[in-house]
Amino acid sequence: MIQVKNLWHIYEGRKEALRGINFRMENEIVALVGPNGSGKTTLAKHLNGLLKPTKGDVIIDGMNTKEHSVAELSKLVGYVFQNPEHMFFEENIFKEVSFGPRNLGLKEEEIRERVFWALKEVNLNGYENRTPYSLSGGEKQRLAIACVLAMKPKYLILDEPTTGLDERSSKSVREIIKNLHKEGHGILLITHEMDLVLEVAQRVVLLYEGRKVFDGPVDEFFSLELRNYDLNKPELLRISHELNVGFVRTVEEFIWRLTG
Ligand SMILES: Nc1ncnc2c1ncn2[C@@H]1O[C@H](COP(=O)(O)OP(=O)(O)O)[C@@H](O)[C@H]1O
Ligand SMILES: [Mg+2]
Repeated sequence: MIQVKNLWHIYEGRKEALRGINFRMENEIVALVGPNGSGKTTLAKHLNGLLKPTKGDVIIDGMNTKEHSVAELSKLVGYVFQNPEHMFFEENIFKEVSFGPRNLGLKEEEIRERVFWALKEVNLNGYENRTPYSLSGGEKQRLAIACVLAMKPKYLILDEPTTGLDERSSKSVREIIKNLHKEGHGILLITHEMDLVLEVAQRVVLLYEGRKVFDGPVDEFFSLELRNYDLNKPELLRISHELNVGFVRTVEEFIWRLTG
């Protein structure tokens, strides 16, 4: 379990970026939302120890982040950064994905196994010898997920994983997220895309000016006045509300309710 207890974070010389956050999660999909500057990335960086609390505690499966290194915590919590293409540096995809496991000091055979498994999870099997720079935007996002998966973390943090992707690539990333959850991973999904929240999240945590202002089920989240937080309600929900079909998550579900 990830436990965040009364977490405060102050960057040197700035006002508080996080103000007394309490939060827990297990193997569920939690969407972390809020306007720019509300503290989402700061909170996420606490979950694998990249940042340490100014006050309060972050405990990952019993490990307090103050007492463990990022290297140790990364085995439990994988962090896929926003715009991950800036992070690739190997000449081919096999080397790129094997970099993390190799640093863990695993045997060559285990490394190979993990690389092939991780690439398969994101539908990039067969791409081992290509250079990361030859990939499309969506493929790069999937490669970044594979690099983190190869570490076999229990929890995954995905920072804006579908932002800037075309519809097909975005759908493929959405399917990967749902799949990883089915396989037992806990996923913290940072996003501005309310359609994505609606489709995949089980719970939503809303940050505003460094405070947690909402933590609850998706349908309850969408009944908030989201404009107050610079967020939009998905068109699908407005239409389904107008037509009285109740709470639906996807267009397919909407059509099924209308016709079924
Ligand atoms: N490295 C940093 N140094 C100083 N201030 C920072 C740094 N990173 C973020 N901040 C500030 O902390 C606040 C929260 O930022 P952030 O966690 O990046 O928000 P979000 O991810 O929700 O956009 C903002 O006011 C931001 O300017
Ligand atoms: Mg951010």
